[in-house]
Amino acid sequence: MTERTLCVVKPNAVKDNNIGAIIKMLEEAGLKVVGLKMAKLTAEKVEAFYAEHVEKPFFDGLKAFMTSGNVVAMVLEGDDAIARCRKVMGATNPENADEGTIRKLFAASMTENAVHGSDSPESAAREINFYFDQFSIL
Ligand code: RTP
Ligand code: MG
Repeated sequence: MTERTLCVVKPNAVKDNNIGAIIKMLEEAGLKVVGLKMAKLTAEKVEAFYAEHVEKPFFDGLKAFMTSGNVVAMVLEGDDAIARCRKVMGATNPENADEGTIRKLFAASMTENAVHGSDSPESAAREINFYFDQFSIL
């Protein structure tokens, strides 16, 4: 089923000049970029985006990291885009990520793990709307 998902290149991967390599891996996996932008998140934006994690012990570290530099957000479209994107991303903890995945190649740690990907149709819809208005997506 054709669907859309939100993928975010996180600050460590932007700083390391891996934006292009990451987009190339996602495109080669059959996903089409239909929206793309660079942004700098405030603490309030991170709290809103990661609302389900605000009470978690790792949240302060996640917030510091996600506000530490620019991010690149994209809307990806394709067959089973949500699962397909997360497969290319690899496991949250890069130590558990499969060879050849984005996180295996470009994550520095569990927190600085290079990319975000939506995990359900509901979160994809919410997260696409968080970054993009209707005129910014093809
Ligand atoms: P994401 O939402 O960013 O795509 O990552 P995910 O689904 O694989 O992982 P999730 O459980 O949603 O966690 C969100 C992000 O929080 C950071 N994290 N740090 N140090 C820690 O224990 C820890 N746990 C999670 C990571 O940046 C993770 O991607
Ligand atoms: Mg998640």
